[in-house]
Amino acid sequence: MTTAPDTLTIRRPDDWHAHLRDGAMLGRVAGYTARCFARAIVMPNLIPPVTTAQAALDYRARILAALPDGASFEPLMTCYLTDDCDADALARAHGDGIFVAAKLYPAHATTNSEFGVSDLARIRPALERMQRMSMPLLIHGEVTDPAVDIFDREAVFIERVLAPLLADMPGLKVVLEHVTTEDAVEFVAAAGSNVAATITPHHLMINRNALFDGGMRPHMFCLPVAKRERHRLALRAAATSGDQSFFLGTDTAPHAIAAKQAGCGCAGIFNAPTALECYAQVFDEEDALGRLEGFASEFGARFYDLPLNQGSITLAKRAWSVPETIALPPPDEEIVPFGAGETLDWRVEPAEGDSA
Ligand code: DOR
Ligand code: ZN
Repeated sequence: MTTAPDTLTIRRPDDWHAHLRDGAMLGRVAGYTARCFARAIVMPNLIPPVTTAQAALDYRARILAALPDGASFEPLMTCYLTDDCDADALARAHGDGIFVAAKLYPAHATTNSEFGVSDLARIRPALERMQRMSMPLLIHGEVTDPAVDIFDREAVFIERVLAPLLADMPGLKVVLEHVTTEDAVEFVAAAGSNVAATITPHHLMINRNALFDGGMRPHMFCLPVAKRERHRLALRAAATSGDQSFFLGTDTAPHAIAAKQAGCGCAGIFNAPTALECYAQVFDEEDALGRLEGFASEFGARFYDLPLNQGSITLAKRAWSVPETIALPPPDEEIVPFGAGETLDWRVEPAEGDSA
C-alpha cells in the first residue's frame, strides 16, 4: 500500500461475493464489477441455477463475452447446491478448477433459492467430499422457519445449523456470506481459520432504519436484511480489525427498478458502481485506511488459496455524487445504485489508458 496526500494505492482487490446475473442485465452490470475487481466469486442463483460443470463453463463464457473491451477480470464460478446434487460430479468439477466453491442456499431463504437445500442431511455426501478437498462452502446463513423473526434469522441459523455443522465437520472450509450481526462476527472470530465471513459495503453503512427513512425504501432492502445499529458497529469493527477471517464481498445484487419498486419488491442492493468507494469511506471514518488492502485484496485470496493480484488501484479523496439511476437496456430501463443521490468522499481513479 502507498499513500500520498488524499490518495490511496492498494493491490487490486477481489470481490468474494457478486451476483452478475445473465442476459441483458449481465451485459450492463459486469463492467461495474470488473472496473475495480480482478476476480469475483460469482453467485449461481440464476434461473435455472448453475448446478453442473457445463452450466458453469457456459455462464463463465457469457460473463467474459459481456465484459467491456480491454477488461481484465476472472469470474470464479460456484455450484448451487440442491437436495439431489451429485457429490462425485461436484468433486470432479472442483478438481478440474471449474467450481471454486459451492453455495448453500437454504430453500426459500432469498432470491431464486427455491431449488436450494431443504435439509443439510440431504447433501451430506457432498459436504464430506468438500471437507476432504478443502473446497469452500459458501453459506447464506438464515433460517427459513417462518416462526423466527426476520431480524433473528442469521443468529438462529448460527445456533441451529452452522454450529452443529462445524461440530460435525470441524475441517469444513466455510464462508458465512454477507454477515449482518454481532453474533456472526463473534462466531467467526472465535472459529478456526477454516471459517471466514464476507462483509458488504451496505451492511457497513446502513442499519435497519434506512429501510423506513421517511417511507419505505425498497432500494435499501436486501437479505439478510440490515439490522440494528449495534450490529452495524460490530461489522465495522470486524472489517477494520485486521482479522484475516473477515474480507470483502459486495453482494452486489442488481434488480431493475420495476422489480424493486413493486408490491413484493426483490431483495438485493446494486452496489458495484460504488462498492470500493464505500469501503474506503468506512475505513477512512474508522481511521483504518491502512487496513483496507488486507480486507480488500489479501485475506480472501489467502482463504481461497489463490495468488494475490499483481496490479494496483488508486483511490483519491475527491467527493463525487452518485447518480440517482443507471440506464439499462430496454425493457428493464433503469437501476438504482447503492448511495444514489449521495456524496461519497473517495473515488477510484481511472486506470492508465482508460478514457474517463
Ligand atoms: O439481497 C439479496 N439479493 N440477497 C441474496 O441473498 C440474493 C440476492 C439476489 O440474488 O438478488
Ligand atoms: Zn448474494
